[in-house]
Amino acid sequence: MRHLLVTGGCGFIGANFIRFVLDESDFNGCIINVDKLTYAGNPENLADRVEAWGPRYRFIQADIVDRPAMEKIFAELAIDSVCHFAAESHVDRSIVAPDAFVQTNIVGTHVLLDICRQRSPAIQRFHHVSTDEVYGDLGREGYFTESTAYRPSSPYSASKAASDHLVRAFQRTYGLPVTICNCSNNYGPYQFPEKLIPLMVLNALDGKPLPVYGDGAQVRDWLFVRDHCRALWQVMTQGRRGETYNVGGNCEMANLQVVEMVCDLVDEMAPRSPAGPRRDLITFVTDRPGHDRRYAIDCAKIQSELGWQPEESFATGLRKTVQWYLGHRAWVARIQSGAYREWIASHYGIRDEG
Ligand code: NAD
Ligand code: TYD
Repeated sequence: MRHLLVTGGCGFIGANFIRFVLDESDFNGCIINVDKLTYAGNPENLADRVEAWGPRYRFIQADIVDRPAMEKIFAELAIDSVCHFAAESHVDRSIVAPDAFVQTNIVGTHVLLDICRQRSPAIQRFHHVSTDEVYGDLGREGYFTESTAYRPSSPYSASKAASDHLVRAFQRTYGLPVTICNCSNNYGPYQFPEKLIPLMVLNALDGKPLPVYGDGAQVRDWLFVRDHCRALWQVMTQGRRGETYNVGGNCEMANLQVVEMVCDLVDEMAPRSPAGPRRDLITFVTDRPGHDRRYAIDCAKIQSELGWQPEESFATGLRKTVQWYLGHRAWVARIQSGAYREWIASHYGIRDEG
């Protein structure tokens, strides 16, 4: 791999992945980051490292659905591998407005696959970043394995399921060298504060209500983002072509438990004035429609084949995460005020699209 195309590299996991690969891995090629810069894309997530990376990093603002733009990038920059993150990623938004999910997650993935098919054998690896939500709702017992049947519940998970099927079909039909990771809920630095953990951290700091959907007993398996990035890189470099690997944090938690832990950590690290436990801010609100009760990952395959396992426990990972948000108040302020969009508009000449 010399010219690695990363899609969606200005988002949460993509930015962590680029930082990991360029700063911590043995990769000595260059990364081309293609990102449309939707509301979730923030080039500031990488800005402090761009100068140090020099010619090893290049950013192009483009939409993966725009086929001519993608063809030009593949041809002119001699792309030989792809790590595909770009997606609409928030379940609640998919319930309100599913169109963009179908466009980016399904059509956009197809555009990239079809270009790779036509450029084959120049493409050494197409890695697709997906989610455990494709498997749908798990009962009280059991775990998702790589052979669990797909049963997505939300427009988001249905669009990711469709993209996974396309990726596998392009492997089976055209021999494209693909790999897929289906991972559990990530958390850590640079996560957009619409997702549970950063939303709760920031609301707790601001003394705002902490909205817990339904009874808060829904279970998610939490994965620290750096552990996920390590897994992605291992699968890209050592994983078997055509294979799927489930990635989880071995860390099942009920949402209410997560929110309570966030409250206690914020109380400890940023004592409230006037004093009062952040748990008092917890507010039960109307449940999400179609809300899956439990996700849990069996990651035995990636452990036994590639020797990967999570390094972070939820206690250590959550502490690092809260610390990160406390230490990056300017980043938070620019997101909360919307100023990060103005910065993007002035640098890239695009307007906010909500
Ligand atoms: P994110 O929403 O933080 O970032 C998505 C990025 O994709 C943004 O930078 C956005 O600008 C970009 N993007 C969106 N549409 C685009 C388009 N049409 N063309 C080019 N760029 C576009 O998402 P994330 O949390 O970093 O998730 C990354 C990937 O990981 C997604 O594919 C998601 O489905 C998957 N995933 C996420 C989680 C999680 O917990 N966050 C868990 C499992 C899987
Ligand atoms: P989220 O971070 O949106 O991730 P996902 O829906 O992909 O799992 O939500 C994680 C869990 O937290 C999910 O069960 C919904 C719940 N949740 C709340 O209870 N309150 C909130 O404000 C949010 C955003 C999520």
